[in-house]
Amino acid sequence: MGLRLQTKATALLFLGVLGLMACGSSSPEGHEMPDAAGLDLANASRNYAMKCAMCHGEDGKPVLATAPDLRTSNMTVEERVAIIAYGKGTMPPHRNTLDMPSIRGLAVYIDKFTD
Ligand code: HEC
Repeated sequence: MGLRLQTKATALLFLGVLGLMACGSSSPEGHEMPDAAGLDLANASRNYAMKCAMCHGEDGKPVLATAPDLRTSNMTVEERVAIIAYGKGTMPPHRNTLDMPSIRGLAVYIDKFTD
């Protein structure tokens, strides 16, 4: 039973990812409405608080001494997607704990820290 549920959840997730790749504007069912760019920034805000703020700080000002200041980061969204997904040095990879739309959402969300 548990396994069946898990399989179903995985299939739904996969369909959601496909949907996003296909048109860039649909969102998996059960999530808040995404913004105009097709990204769920409320979800990104929650993910940031849970998975990033302990090192990068709530407002991008680093808590961990070795973490870069996200307020002055000038990486492109694509570069951020790569580092969030695959990690680098002490920055942990998140591709196994976040789906691609969420990773992309975070890469755009952290833009709000830069001036
Ligand atoms: C365990 C601490 C830690 C966590 C958790 C963490 N990071 Fe990082 N992050 C780092 C460190 C350290 C680096 C620098 C990596 C390097 O260049 O060697 C980094 C680099 C980055 C960079 C590149 C910035 C630049 O301009 O160089 C981005 C973007 C980033 N992290 C975003 C995130 C996001 C989004 C999350 C949450 C999903 C996150 N990080 C979670 C420690 C962390």
